[in-house]
Amino acid sequence: MATPSGKRILLGISAGIAAYKSAHLARLLKKAGHEVRVVMTDGAQAFITPLTLQALTGEAVRTSLLDPEAEAGMGHIELARWAELILIAPATADLMARLVHGHADDLLTTLCLASQAEKVMAPAMNQAMWRHPATTRNARQLEADGWQLLGPAAGDQACGDVGPGRMLEPEAIVDALFMAPLFKAPDAAPAEARPAQGLTVTITAGPTREPLDPVRYLSNHSSGKMGYALAEAAAALGATVHLISGPVTLATPNSVRRINVSSATEMAEAAHRLAGQSDVFIGCAAVADYRAANVSEHKIKKTTESDELTLTLVKNPDIIAEVARHRSGATRPFVVGFAAETRDLEAYAQDKLARKGLDMIVANDVSQAGLGFGSDSNAALVLWPASSEPHSPLGRRALPAQTKATLATAILDCVLERLEHSDTASSPIATTQNPKASSQDPQ
Ligand code: PMT
Repeated sequence: MATPSGKRILLGISAGIAAYKSAHLARLLKKAGHEVRVVMTDGAQAFITPLTLQALTGEAVRTSLLDPEAEAGMGHIELARWAELILIAPATADLMARLVHGHADDLLTTLCLASQAEKVMAPAMNQAMWRHPATTRNARQLEADGWQLLGPAAGDQACGDVGPGRMLEPEAIVDALFMAPLFKAPDAAPAEARPAQGLTVTITAGPTREPLDPVRYLSNHSSGKMGYALAEAAAALGATVHLISGPVTLATPNSVRRINVSSATEMAEAAHRLAGQSDVFIGCAAVADYRAANVSEHKIKKTTESDELTLTLVKNPDIIAEVARHRSGATRPFVVGFAAETRDLEAYAQDKLARKGLDMIVANDVSQAGLGFGSDSNAALVLWPASSEPHSPLGRRALPAQTKATLATAILDCVLERLEHSDTASSPIATTQNPKASSQDPQ
């Protein structure tokens, strides 16, 4: 099965201050496993050098239409055919206008005309330029011509203005690209609809690492196996899957987009970014509750004066509780937490379900040999609020010990059943306090 990575992306850079972010964008695309070739306009080179992009992509950067040496390698028509996706970031107002009129007076505009590739741009310009009726018209025309426009975002601008016109952050561009048709696995639209088809599921997995100094960190025993099994099962059920992964040694499941993070703070940032575009959010990661108040710049040395070392820790953000609190209408996902307990499994899980404002919790006893952390099998007790009435009994399903792969499918079955009880599958249950649950009485 094809994976969403490994595409041939032509990154076009035009003359905006946001061009400096294109270097990070190129890096993210490469890191995600894509082949990236860069084309820069003349003006772009005033903001960032071709050499920077060449070093990041490992490919010569093309800057000129009339370059005999470059044309002797891969000619511009070949380059246009090579690309599966043309991504222009930043796209200036001038470039947009020239594309609307079909100009072909430099390499980038020529490639855009000559290529059958999917086309995406991230506009970036001064807020007044973006608001100008000419740019509005051009943006509409480009969309009509098949371009997908990502952003721009609003906020502080390099010129001192505030308003719409900032280029989307590279991470947000990469997230959005993953939703483009090109990035769907070829078998993602089988004749028969699969149960999770059309849903976007974000899953956290693995441990977090909280650095103490350049060589040490606090972490835990999570291997990532449970979260990766969920990601694989969700993709097999037809969902678009984002997997936010702490450091683990597992291979990325097919058709799953993996976002590598290390600390809880990094995981929280990725979770907040993706939660708004997800229908379901599952927190399977073993997130460190605390991190060092101060990370030592140099290795902490052993001293002769004392046999003790005192570390001051501060609380990490409670990622899943924050995602569950995010209540902007339909953008709030259905939120599923895990509870790793060594005693009083059900009582602690009930407490976490209510305290973190979750729609469902998967409780697992991590004190049992052969289950939980690191093993290939697990057992779980799934709990959810069965009615919107306060203090109403909980829905409950006990899932006996089995492989993490089969357990993952059973957990997702519970989630899909709950989603079916909400108004629409794409706009899942609104809040834990007000689940649109009806028939699932406690079992
Ligand atoms: O990775 P494996 O080796 O396969 O092991 C699987 C597992 C045991 C790690 C997994 O099944 C599991 O139980 N994951 C949750 C572990 C955990 O941190 O549980 P908790 O009870 O401490 O946290 C409760 C919930 O809050 C979890 O959804 C957790 O992701 C979330 N959390 C916790 C702390 C924090 N700062 N932010 C969070 O989002």
